[in-house]
Formats: sequence, structure tokens, C-alpha cells
Amino acid sequence: MTGLPAASPSVSHEPLFLRACRRQPVERTPVWIMRQAGRYLPEYRALREEHDFLTACRTPELACEITLQPVKRLGVDAAILFSDILVPLPGMGVEVAFEPAPVLERSIRSAEDVAGLRTPEAAEATGFVLEAIGLLRRELPEQVPLIGFAGAPFTVATYLIEGGGSRSFAATKEMLFAAPDLAHELLGKCTVTLASYLAEQVAAGAQAVMLFDTWAGMLGPRDYEEFARPYAWRVLNAASQVASLEGAPPTLYYAGESAGYLELCAAVGADVVGVDWRIGLDEARRRLGDTVAVQGNLDPGVLLGPRERIRERVAAVLREARALELGGEPGSTAAAPGHIFNLGHGILPATPPEHAEALVAFVRELSSPGGA
Ligand code: CP3
Repeated sequence: MTGLPAASPSVSHEPLFLRACRRQPVERTPVWIMRQAGRYLPEYRALREEHDFLTACRTPELACEITLQPVKRLGVDAAILFSDILVPLPGMGVEVAFEPAPVLERSIRSAEDVAGLRTPEAAEATGFVLEAIGLLRRELPEQVPLIGFAGAPFTVATYLIEGGGSRSFAATKEMLFAAPDLAHELLGKCTVTLASYLAEQVAAGAQAVMLFDTWAGMLGPRDYEEFARPYAWRVLNAASQVASLEGAPPTLYYAGESAGYLELCAAVGADVVGVDWRIGLDEARRRLGDTVAVQGNLDPGVLLGPRERIRERVAAVLREARALELGGEPGSTAAAPGHIFNLGHGILPATPPEHAEALVAFVRELSSPGGA
């Protein structure tokens, strides 16, 4: 024996969330909520009365406080940094306003526009994010790991091309199909920026990283393969290569409306694939295989219903997660290895906070030994 702390043969002191990401045994299913810090929380709205959204993102003490709000209120098993996928854009040379939907100062459509974009180092352009991560690692309980995140290059590129959100993504599609080389150049610049952004978050202390490819679902499988998957892979690969004392951070990948191309999402190479409610978790597991963990997939709308319905639907998700596990009792809601409970997309602003609290309590109760 040396004087160094021995690497424990059992991993049971590792936080539940990190163990589930690695498909290691868990005593119960870990749970957190996409967009868990946000407008459904009165304490968030109170803070937003005094500070606008971007100021909150850019002030490490405020970002830290808002990140902790749902951890304190809900008792979730992971924290996600309070920020936004569009926070790196000003560093690339494009200002963003949130009204609250994002509106960009200009759109990026011509070869000249793309050539003018910068690819900044994260430490220079978004140092406040790295500082917030440092504060959070001091404040968060040991059992609640911190998730860093970025938008995937394709999704961030849609905002740049459209100049904001879109329903039809006509300008994006025009660039993909009329000027694919230009689209690849833009995606390449987003990738360089976002890879540095996510890798620096790991170096600053993020214990897992998540990539949001919210708008990938507007592509057919062939175009997803060309314009989305390889770039997402590069960003996650850069983040997972950052050496830290805690080892390579688990990576999570969420693509919007991914049921039609779930197998391709698995090929992004993340440890965890996010799944929405448009597909059962049992079918998702069958299609993804057992080499990845699965995160999801309650319809956020269920939280607008009464407590009994929430309990019933939480149990149904836990049962589906178990359905393909060998030796599992049929109908059991006990924790399935490699499952992280979450909503299938962000929590709705109209959600009563008590319903989010009930969701977390039900997952804890029903997935614990003897809980069902
Ligand atoms: O709690 C968390 O999950 C962490 C913070 C977080 C925000 N945005 C805060 C936010 C995260 C992870 C995001 C990701 C994000 N942002 C995505 C990908 C995830 C998804 O939902 O698909 C996307 C597409 C965006 C872009 C974005 N930012 C939109 C479309 C909007 C406006 C409408 C909306 O959904 O709220 C934002 C603003 C935004 N980002 C708010 C918050 C709390 C609301 C701002 C406010 O307080 O007024």
C-alpha cells in the first residue's frame, strides 16, 4: 500500500448518476429534470425580476445560485450548469438577445458571413462559465455531480443561419442543399468553438457533459449522417479526452424527436442517449443495444396532471426501463441498470413546482428495493 487513497474495488461511493451513466449497479434510479432551473420555479422568477437572463448567465455567483435552486428544492441526483446553448455565440462575433426566445443580431448565410465568424478559446470568450463551475464544485454536495453542456454544432448552426428559432428551418435547409460546402465550413467553425467550450468545462470541474442536438430531428437519416452526427461526435470526443483526477467524464447526447433515427444517435458515441416520449424505453433499449445508458423519457406534459397520474406514469417509465433486463420480475419498477430518469424534453414553465417535487419523490420511492 502507498500513502495514496486506495482505489475502492466497489464503486458504491460514486454518485448514483455517474454510476448509472457507466451502466454500473445502482440501489435506485437516479433522477434529474431537463431545464430544472427555470421559469416554473418561483425562486428563479424572483431572481429574474432583478437580473436579466444573460446577466444571470454571465455572473458566476448568480449562475451558481440558480443552478443550486432545483438541487435544494427537488433533491435531484445531478445539477446542470445554469447557462444556455447560445452563450458561446457572442464570442464567435454574433450577439444574442433573449425575449425570452433567442433573437440574434444578424444571421449567417453567405460565404462572407461564415468567413467572418471567430472560433474563440473558451477561457477567453466564456471565462464566466468556467468560474461558475469552480464555484459550484465547492457548493454542491458530493453526491450531486455537475453536468456541463453545450449545443451540438448542427443545432447551434441552425440558430446562426435562421437568426433565431424557426419552425420550417427553410434558410438552414437552403444552405444544406444549395451550398453544402458552406454548411460544412460553418459546422466546422461551430465544432471548433464548441469542442473548446465543452472541454474547458471538464477541465474546470464538470463531472459529466451533455450535448443538446434539439433540432437534429428535422433532418432525414441521410442528412443527419452528413450534417449532424460527425460534428457532435467531434465535440464529445474532445470533451472526453480531457484528463481529470476523476477520469473521463461520462458523455450524454440528446437529439430532439430522435425516435426515427435512434440507432444513428447511438453512433455519436456518447455513454448515455436521451430518449423522448415518442418511443417506449423498452423499444429504445432494443434498438440502442446494451452498450449505452438511456435517459428519459416522461412526457413533460404529465407534470401538468394530478399527482396520481404522475405516480402512475413514473411507474410505467420505470417498468419499461426494466422490461428487457434479464431476470427482472415482470412488472417491477425496481431500478434498471443503465437508466437515468428524466423528462423527454425540458420541463414546461406552467408546471406546478410541487409536481416536480412529487416526480423526484416517486422515482426515489418506486425504484428503491421493495418500492413497488
Ligand atoms: O436547467 C437547465 O436545464 C440549465 C439551463 C439551460 C437553459 N437552456 C436555460 C434557459 C439549458 C440546458 C438550456 C438549453 C437550451 N437552450 C436548448 C437545448 C435544450 C432544449 O430545450 O431542447 C435550446 C434549444 C436552447 C435555446 C433557448 N434558450 C430557447 C429556445 C429559449 C427560449 C424559450 C425557452 O425554452 O425558455 C431559451 C431561453 C432560456 N434558456 C431560458 C432558460 C431558463 C428562459 C429565459 C428566461 O428566464 O426568460
